[in-house]
Amino acid sequence: MESMKLSRLLCRAKLWFSCRSLSSSIARSQRATARKEEFRSRVAAGPHLKDFVNPVPVAPDPSSVEDDDDLPHYITDSPSLIYNKVYFETYGCQMNVNDTEIAWSILQKSGYIRVNSATEADAILLVTCSIREKAEQTIWNRLKQLAFMKQKRGKSQGPLKIGLLGCMAERLKEEILQREKAVDILAGPDAYRDLPRLLSVAESGQQAANVLLSLDETYADVMPVQTSSNSISSFVSIMRGCNNMCTYCIVPFTRGRERSRPVHSILEEVRMLSSQGVKEVTLLGQNVNSYCDTSAVQFPTTETSPLSRGFSTIYKPRQGGLHFVDLLDQVSRIDPEMRIRFTSPHPKDFPDEVLHLIRERHNICKQIHIPAQSGSSRVLEAMRRGYTREAYIDLVQNMREHIPGVSLSSDFITGFCQETEEDHQQTLSLLREVSYNAAFLFAYSMRKKTKAFHRMNDNVPPEVKKRRLEELIAVFREEAEKVNQRAVGSTQLVLVEGVSKRSSSDLCGRNDGNTKVVFHDHSIASNSLENDVRARPGDYVLVKIISSSSQSLRGRFLGLANLQSSPAYS
Ligand code: SAH
Ligand code: SF4
Ligand code: F3S
Repeated sequence: MESMKLSRLLCRAKLWFSCRSLSSSIARSQRATARKEEFRSRVAAGPHLKDFVNPVPVAPDPSSVEDDDDLPHYITDSPSLIYNKVYFETYGCQMNVNDTEIAWSILQKSGYIRVNSATEADAILLVTCSIREKAEQTIWNRLKQLAFMKQKRGKSQGPLKIGLLGCMAERLKEEILQREKAVDILAGPDAYRDLPRLLSVAESGQQAANVLLSLDETYADVMPVQTSSNSISSFVSIMRGCNNMCTYCIVPFTRGRERSRPVHSILEEVRMLSSQGVKEVTLLGQNVNSYCDTSAVQFPTTETSPLSRGFSTIYKPRQGGLHFVDLLDQVSRIDPEMRIRFTSPHPKDFPDEVLHLIRERHNICKQIHIPAQSGSSRVLEAMRRGYTREAYIDLVQNMREHIPGVSLSSDFITGFCQETEEDHQQTLSLLREVSYNAAFLFAYSMRKKTKAFHRMNDNVPPEVKKRRLEELIAVFREEAEKVNQRAVGSTQLVLVEGVSKRSSSDLCGRNDGNTKVVFHDHSIASNSLENDVRARPGDYVLVKIISSSSQSLRGRFLGLANLQSSPAYS
């Protein structure tokens, strides 16, 4: 009876689907009702890791001792983790990098230790991506290696647990547990708070999963732990999920509905990063510029319309609340020496107010990512992007008028369902017309569940996709080379990141437009200081550009600078 009630409770709480034997050890005494009620509420909230490891009997409270088996013996307040070393491997987009820090922050609070190599770990957690078939294939291959490693593990080390986190866990759910028996836990992007419990269930020898998506989880109260303590740049998640439902894209299915993190928690994190000396923050989300914190005090916003001209959405834009422009304004006021970037925005949400703010605020980088996906209006409609080629080009012109010298980057998919040679030529011509500083170019990969999978025909042969992709890359490079060539002779403000990968005698960093700048690491005489000056990671420096390629700029170190008093480029 008791165990049936408990399993119903567990079902209602919808916390897991694979924890079968938990209830069997609950004491049956009728006289301990009050303590059992307490226990039930603890179970409904999900037992803690400490509830499963080192099953030390609870020290009896002399005033309430009635009989010995009143209490479940695995509940104890003295945690003692035996297999507590976790190792993270992160795949996919920046959201996953940020999520890894969130997951780690949660596990750290539960007593776990993070290790830097898979061989030292008791649990290996893969933070996965599903965006294209290839991303998932990488994980399947890695799981094979890990299954082998698990088998070979010596008894003295204890069992190795393998966890699959993130988008692939969400997309494939229990299919993964059936296909790869070595996997012990699954946690979708909204289930990271449940990780300590999932790991503890796995510890008891069972598979455990939580792939429930949430309407409101933003991990607002979980401060991500920066992986590197001397980090110069940092990502701050401002929203999660996506409502756009582009017909090719799996993200709305793996990350769920769009929700914005409350503004106060974002500001708190940026302040904390500023106090730690972080010099550049990138606001992160799948659709950052549709940010809307409806819980915030409503500002008398002057925004004309949340939608850019010529753009539409499949959902009703929210009125009221605190919008992206307000957030960007507040974030950029925190530290005048901190650069602010954001990614990924959607072209539909660029009201003029956002562009004005970018132009006016010295520390918001004059660099915008505007994913086009295709240059053909016919394909854009099939993709359900909510704009035509013409509307996109108008937006680019508007950006260039508002923000002279703005750097633009984009994403493109080639070989989408029924893309013709003519459509492809339109994409090449858009690449030429806009001349992006950076572009992420992909061959279309059909994803189950998407509208394209259900309703369209993935009829562009793989070799044609490959050829078109190569053509896109070639045209992009040609244009980027010209863009970078124009920077030769200018002086750029560069945030130094560290030693160049190619040569230990060079330093590298990024300019305002996010292009890599490399320069020789040496001391120079300073006009205002007695000693010579030398650039270090985290410094803003002035660099005179002397040569360029399609990917980077090379220059001469002119001296130290700061963000407030130096123009981004001259
Ligand atoms: N929310 C962001 C990024 C989403 S994923 C945005 O809308 O821009 C990053 C990029 O992956 C997308 O911009 C798109 O270019 C690409 N992508 C998404 N689904 C894909 C698919 N099924 N095949 C190939 N590329 C895809
Ligand atoms: Fe995917 Fe489109 Fe959402 Fe970007 S905007 S995450 S491409 S559905
Ligand atoms: Fe991949 Fe998920 Fe990011 S599918 S691209 S990790 S949102």
